[in-house]
Amino acid sequence: MPVLNRIADQAGEVAEWRRHLHQYPELLYEVHETAKTVAGKLKAFGCDEVVTGIGRTGVVGVIKGSKPGNKVIGMRADMDALPLDEITGLPYASKVPGKMHACGHDGHTAMLLGAARHLCETRNFAGTAIVIFQPAEEGGAGAKAMLDDGLMTRFNIGEVYGMHNMPGLPIGKFAMRQGPIMAAADRLTIEIEGVGGHAARPHFAVDTVLVGAQIVNALQSIVSRNVDPLESAVVSITLFQAGHTDNVIPQTALLRGTARSLRAPVRDLLEKRIVEVAEGVARLHGAKANVKYSRDYPVVVNDERATDFAASIAREITGEPNVDTRTPPVMGGEDFAFMLEARPGAFIFMGNGDSANLHHPAYDFNDSAIPYGTSYWVRLVESAMPA
Ligand code: NI
Repeated sequence: MPVLNRIADQAGEVAEWRRHLHQYPELLYEVHETAKTVAGKLKAFGCDEVVTGIGRTGVVGVIKGSKPGNKVIGMRADMDALPLDEITGLPYASKVPGKMHACGHDGHTAMLLGAARHLCETRNFAGTAIVIFQPAEEGGAGAKAMLDDGLMTRFNIGEVYGMHNMPGLPIGKFAMRQGPIMAAADRLTIEIEGVGGHAARPHFAVDTVLVGAQIVNALQSIVSRNVDPLESAVVSITLFQAGHTDNVIPQTALLRGTARSLRAPVRDLLEKRIVEVAEGVARLHGAKANVKYSRDYPVVVNDERATDFAASIAREITGEPNVDTRTPPVMGGEDFAFMLEARPGAFIFMGNGDSANLHHPAYDFNDSAIPYGTSYWVRLVESAMPA
């Protein structure tokens, strides 16, 4: 069965919802208006239960099938935008300066709403479908906040599925893999303390700029010399702050950055070596380095059986040649990882066509992907819990 006809008919309306969300982006947990819109629609569709305020501003809709069943399937969309100024010039561009939907969460939310409406109208399944709309995917761990509020146990969710659009992957194509598909995303902060002084008398100072530069260099030896070449890891220093003028050696310097990995032993190794290298290089120069390594998002690990199931649904929607089940993992992070730690499930990518990249100010979710994403959600429920 290709894209569901009825869903194709309704895609224009779902695109209108998406464009409305696009004009009013909200950040992190402050997705109050978006959550209100989502909850209002879920109630209007006739969800059996609509619960707000889970994980502060998350929304959950419960849809029972026409027949009873023990299975409960969770499907998750994210609602938050990014702190960027949009440059698309589109008629429905962001009306909020400094905020835009640059990751397509407007599209994710609209597609899951479209699926919720269809499921409420048809209820052609035996069991319970749970639609999950989370806040704060972009660095706020909104998924974890919803889990901490009892998301899985409260609604008795047995399996959970997620989807993200992928620029560069053609419209109508899906990509996924078993096991790790997105990286653990950790943050590091290195405070360097030396001895400030006159720039012309460096022998009386401990130069934190030089120490910082050598730490940046030395950290690059971790991925190239410590990590197994057959494993995947990234260490990027993205901020280096020191000093205010040209004739003073600064007393302190600050480095910040990110570390990514796909497996727990590699993650442990990165943390250990980043601390050792930064502290060691600082000590070598008579400075001190205070390293904070914070574990943010875990690895997104797809359950094997759930991934096979997700792939079978994707094939049904778009045809075998359009589904890549061995897509390489990406080193970006995604807080759906927390949900997959709690329950088995699968996170898949859906083509966004030839668009600007995620988090770019010219990015826009491609509305022609809507029928594929919405059909995927509907068929996932109907196939997992046949009536
Ligand atoms: Ni995203």
